[in-house]
Amino acid sequence: EKLPLNIVEGKEEGAKEIASIIADLIKEKEAQGKKTVLGLATGSSPVMVYKELIRMHNEDNLSFKNVVTFNLDEYYPMSSENKNSYVRFMNEQLFDHIDIPKDNIHIPDGSLPINKIEKYCSKYEKKIKDQGGIDIQLLGIGRSGHIGFNEPGSAINSTTRIVKLDPITIADAAKDFGSEKSVPLRAITMGISTILNARKIILTAWGKNKSVILKKMIEEPVTTKVPASFLQLHDEVTIYADEDATTEL
Ligand code: GLP
Repeated sequence: EKLPLNIVEGKEEGAKEIASIIADLIKEKEAQGKKTVLGLATGSSPVMVYKELIRMHNEDNLSFKNVVTFNLDEYYPMSSENKNSYVRFMNEQLFDHIDIPKDNIHIPDGSLPINKIEKYCSKYEKKIKDQGGIDIQLLGIGRSGHIGFNEPGSAINSTTRIVKLDPITIADAAKDFGSEKSVPLRAITMGISTILNARKIILTAWGKNKSVILKKMIEEPVTTKVPASFLQLHDEVTIYADEDATTEL
């Protein structure tokens, strides 16, 4: 069974579709007096989705008062004030522009001492469960095959934990950090199992440099060498890709 693939003309069109799926769910759950739990991603892939959600907040009265968010990952070590922190990224790209209560936002804390991480990660898992689990998880894909920062070798039953970054990921992040040696060697990430527990998963892949890994994710047998291939085991996954990302399929 192949993963369902939506080929769209560009990320603007894809982002509009994804944002309206999210907005519809928020409104539907709000009408039932329920909160919507979103799993959010960083990187360039979801930026247009966040832009569209901000537009809907400003122009269509979409409220995020009843939205709870859990971000996938954060570099380690990383202070929240650092310009490359995912806290900064999320504030700039989304949270500063919508009416989400601060207490509803969760992003793995990259500033904790190493001996506190394990306990912190199990608490992160517990918080997700206490909110009733993730309704929609947004994902990008790294050229290493990672989702979140689940690099090759990640186990299907992995949960939130500290990981080592793959050399491909470090090379790709060098442009943000100025050089490869400035990129943190580790990260805190939700696990494969955390991601697969989401009720619905939306993965986006834009541009030519995602074409090889997108093919592997969709067409190769499920393998820990391509952590994104674990998504084949989930029955509510939708992939949005542009033409350039699908040239190898
Ligand atoms: C980053 C993030 C991932 C993201 C991926 C792709 O390092 N940790 O969650 O999906 O790499 O990034 P981009 O969307 O910029 O291609």
